[in-house]
Amino acid sequence: MGKGQSSDAKRKTIIAGNWKMNKTVSEAAALTKSIVEGLATELKGEALPEIVLCPAFLCLAEVLNQVKGSPCKVGAQNMDYRDSGAFTGEIAPPMLTAMHVQYVLIGHSERRQFFGETNESVNLKVKAALAHGLTPVMCVGELLEQREAGQADDVVREQVVAGLAGITAEQIAQDGGARIVIAYEPVWAIGTGKNCESPEANRVCGLIRAIVEELYSGTNISAGTSILYGGSVKASTIDEQMQQEHIDGALVGGASLKAEDFLPLIKGGAKRLKSFSHA
Ligand code: 13P
Repeated sequence: MGKGQSSDAKRKTIIAGNWKMNKTVSEAAALTKSIVEGLATELKGEALPEIVLCPAFLCLAEVLNQVKGSPCKVGAQNMDYRDSGAFTGEIAPPMLTAMHVQYVLIGHSERRQFFGETNESVNLKVKAALAHGLTPVMCVGELLEQREAGQADDVVREQVVAGLAGITAEQIAQDGGARIVIAYEPVWAIGTGKNCESPEANRVCGLIRAIVEELYSGTNISAGTSILYGGSVKASTIDEQMQQEHIDGALVGGASLKAEDFLPLIKGGAKRLKSFSHA
């Protein structure tokens, strides 16, 4: 058993689809329906990974409606950290929980790049998610120039440490595991078709687990934290990715927009469940 692993720590295998700024309400309904139908036919009776669909805010209600009675969970792509107030255009955590949204992506690289998200705002949002009973999927990852300059590990370390600053083990611990998810998404691999090779993705996900262990040593949190890989995940890469020790699932963009592309990824997650006892 590796460092930070305990026999009773459990972490989920998670296949999450980040639909980004795609799909109208009716298109989102149709996509959800085909995913739910595909699960019922192609994966009938199988143990499934946690499946999380993250549509645009406008489509949350319809997607929540369509997943009723299915194993799929729903996540938002962002949120404000405040509960309410004069913040035009923003969405507050209680608005999400009132709808029964369970997950929220925090600090996706596109929010960091295009919408001024910083490690500090990520930290405030992770805290707010935990305070409201939402599971944050905290996204980290280096830019191409940072990787080329040999700074990838330092960037990821800084993002993880700053994102979790001031958050106690008690705030995260849940059923012997953790109610926080971390997604490693190297920015150069997002939407480029150029995915990070599995051994390297596993190494960085292992580094993230080691950093979480440094922050919460003496607890089951590092062994119980699901760490996902994201960046050009597709049917042809998922099996190898799901065989890596530290990659507990995938955060998928492009290949989550069609049921025929997304269902094979869920199957990949289901295979991991069979081969890893902690999954
Ligand atoms: P792609 O799968 O399209 O590379 O996007 C990854 C991503 O950003 C998921 O959050």
